[in-house]
Amino acid sequence: MDRIKVLTIFGTRPEAIKMAPLVKEIEKNSDTLKSIVCVTAQHRQMLDQVLDLFRIKPDFDLDIMKNNQNLWSLTAEVLIKTKEVIEKVNPDIVLVHGDTTTSMAAALSSFYAKIPIGHVEAGLRTFDKYYPFPEEINRVFTDYLCTYYFAPTDKSCENLEKSLVNPKNVYKTGNTVIDALLYTVKNHNEDIENLKLNPDLKTILLTSHRRENFGEPIKNICKAVLKLVENNKNIQVVYPVHPNPNVQQPVFELLNEKERIHLIKPLEYAQFCSLMKKSHIILTDSGGVQEEAPSLGKPVLVLRNTTERPEAVQYGTVKLVGTDIEKIVNSTEELLINDIEYKKMSEAVNPYGDGHASERIVEILKSIKN
Ligand code: UD1
Ligand code: UDP
Repeated sequence: MDRIKVLTIFGTRPEAIKMAPLVKEIEKNSDTLKSIVCVTAQHRQMLDQVLDLFRIKPDFDLDIMKNNQNLWSLTAEVLIKTKEVIEKVNPDIVLVHGDTTTSMAAALSSFYAKIPIGHVEAGLRTFDKYYPFPEEINRVFTDYLCTYYFAPTDKSCENLEKSLVNPKNVYKTGNTVIDALLYTVKNHNEDIENLKLNPDLKTILLTSHRRENFGEPIKNICKAVLKLVENNKNIQVVYPVHPNPNVQQPVFELLNEKERIHLIKPLEYAQFCSLMKKSHIILTDSGGVQEEAPSLGKPVLVLRNTTERPEAVQYGTVKLVGTDIEKIVNSTEELLINDIEYKKMSEAVNPYGDGHASERIVEILKSIKN
């Protein structure tokens, strides 16, 4: 029998981190599966960091990133440029991930070519079309275009089964992010001496990049951080600042060269994992970080009002605090002084997986031609 041709398309840092273990697993099964990788490079530097770490050499690199790009041109570029790749490869299945513009437009492109699509991390929902923006609609739309659904949790399966999807192709696999995290922590124990952190201070790790937080909300996050370091002389804040100009501008304006606040470049994934391990508390609006931190026993305060990851809230590994200055300060200080609350959050079970999601997905891929 001919090998099953699997074309994996991704473009941003989080997609790359979450698709890397799956690409590796597909390559391991080269007797039955043929792996072809296409990166859109919606992100450039942050994508390349991940490709280097996992030693993935894309077969196609569409190199589309522009400084301060917009959703319209991004969508159009992905749609048109993936068409050529899909026509050239003529795959048996296309895999996309999550909820980015790359995922949505590559899925649409595959649908137009009538190629079956597998959606990794399918079924996440906030049920609010503008939060997160544009990700909620990206993932709903992608789910409608797909044939196979690799959903991380019971909740995401349930969301899919309640929608118009054929329930027979919904599989609960766990989230591949845990595969990536466990592999990286085991094989790349990077030191972070170069960050020159003070070992006598508690480290608060901060990341923020969501479009719905641009403007006032991100300024509020910065002001909360200023208040936190002023009130608590025993903490330092480390913030790898996302390169999006809408993040860089307010963050550097408000936080640059302030005492005990380290603004740094986005870290390569293995270093970021080491930094998460060394941190005491994580403040973030990132999706992936919410899923990873519980595996490292770190409490997460989510700088958003809604989440498509209700399991984490339910299991007690994360708390939604939004972007109100007082709420961020109070919730962080509560964790700094209340050891019982800290212990409860840091010891909660991670609902997102066991590190074997990619293996499960590959077993399903092997059966798609039967
Ligand atoms: C994108 C995704 C978002 C995801 C996030 C992860 C969309 C619409 N948004 O948002 O869902 O959570 O990635 O980080 O798909 N830039 C660089 N170098 C890089 C990456 C970005 O300079 O390696 C700058 C560029 O100026 C670029 C801008 O950041 O134009 C925005 O990148 P874009 O992918 O459009 O949006 P993100 O905010 O990164
Ligand atoms: N990450 C990283 N370096 C950093 C910050 C984050 O490697 O400096 C990783 C993080 O561990 C997680 C992923 O990037 O796996 C999350 O990406 P991001 O927050 O940009 O996107 P989201 O998950 O919100 O879509």
